[in-house]
Amino acid sequence: MSKVKAALIGCGGRNGVHFSKLLEFEDVEFVGFCDIILERAQNMVDKSGQGKAYECFKTMLDEVTPDVVYIAVPPHQHGDIEMYVIEKGINFMVEKPMALDYSVAEKICKAAKAKNLITGVGFQDRYQNLTQIMKDYIADKKVGLVSGGWMGGIPGVEWWRTMETSGGQIVEQNIHLFDQLRFLFGEPVSVYCSAGKGIVDGDEYGVPGYNVDDYSSAVVTFENGVVANLFTSCYHVGGSATNSGMTVYCKDATLEYSLRYQLKIHDKDGWHEPIMRGEEQTGIMDRIFIDAIKTGDTSKILSDYEDALKSLKLTLACNESIATGNVIKL
Ligand SMILES: NC(=O)c1ccc[n+]([C@@H]2O[C@H](COP(=O)([O-])OP(=O)(O)OC[C@H]3O[C@@H](n4cnc5c(N)ncnc54)[C@H](O)[C@@H]3O)[C@@H](O)[C@H]2O)c1
Repeated sequence: MSKVKAALIGCGGRNGVHFSKLLEFEDVEFVGFCDIILERAQNMVDKSGQGKAYECFKTMLDEVTPDVVYIAVPPHQHGDIEMYVIEKGINFMVEKPMALDYSVAEKICKAAKAKNLITGVGFQDRYQNLTQIMKDYIADKKVGLVSGGWMGGIPGVEWWRTMETSGGQIVEQNIHLFDQLRFLFGEPVSVYCSAGKGIVDGDEYGVPGYNVDDYSSAVVTFENGVVANLFTSCYHVGGSATNSGMTVYCKDATLEYSLRYQLKIHDKDGWHEPIMRGEEQTGIMDRIFIDAIKTGDTSKILSDYEDALKSLKLTLACNESIATGNVIKL
């Protein structure tokens, strides 16, 4: 294969990042861009000088034959897109959360496996140096508790603010840290989650129609006995100091990870010099994915669709726990 032919479905913020990374790769060429807002797709054609803009993914995939499709659409838009990509036999990278209905994601996973397609899901943090360092460091440590959180404000995209279109902040956003927990500590056995509302006022915050929770706290128990408590919040405005990331309490050490920024380790010698985030991780993820498409060797892909399903299931279980008040067994 000389150049990998890529097409994008959804030409908004996230695929804008993938676009800028892929544009730097000399062995990738774009054959199509699709967005229901055509000018967004046309903008990428203009910037890259490659491919053609489409409003409908079916029209695009009937006309061009990419080796790989990058899918980054609002969470409630998944299903038909992937099934058509799979029908055409095309490998794909899709953004989290891969669907809001678990059965839709399961169906996609099954169909992609049946066709032996190469899949990737955008859990970028798995490719970050800090995550790898944490994983190596704790490999021979005894870990009991983990605390952490994804705490901030409300993202600007309109679909984010309703459960029906985003799945809420745990599913749409904090799924990154839930996935990172799985990457570090293995599979969860149960989760209990409690949530609250009443701080965010749709008018005051400029988010009419807002109906997601303002905050929540989830307790996840893992097969290996680790218990993690993850906060999720989106009500903070100027003046509220938040700390996103996680703290891992080992028997004889503590790891303080600040989200996509730095890692501090404390052991019997005290605090060590902070380790800073290295190369930006989405670029690493995209490079690995394109290499897998070229060679067929998928061993470096750290999150494929089948594995990512388990992180989706965990976050959907948080929502179920909030709704029912029950501990959800996984
Ligand atoms: N991995 C990460 O770190 C990361 C970061 C940001 C966003 N995301 C995820 O990426 C996804 C998209 O987020 P975003 O920030 O790019 O949103 P966005 O609103 O900026 O972009 C989504 C684009 O998809 C288009 N679209 C909607 N329905 C479509 C359809 N049926 N066919 C084609 N195009 C369609 C929209 O017009 C829009 O341009 C979300 O699931 C989000 O959670 C992941």
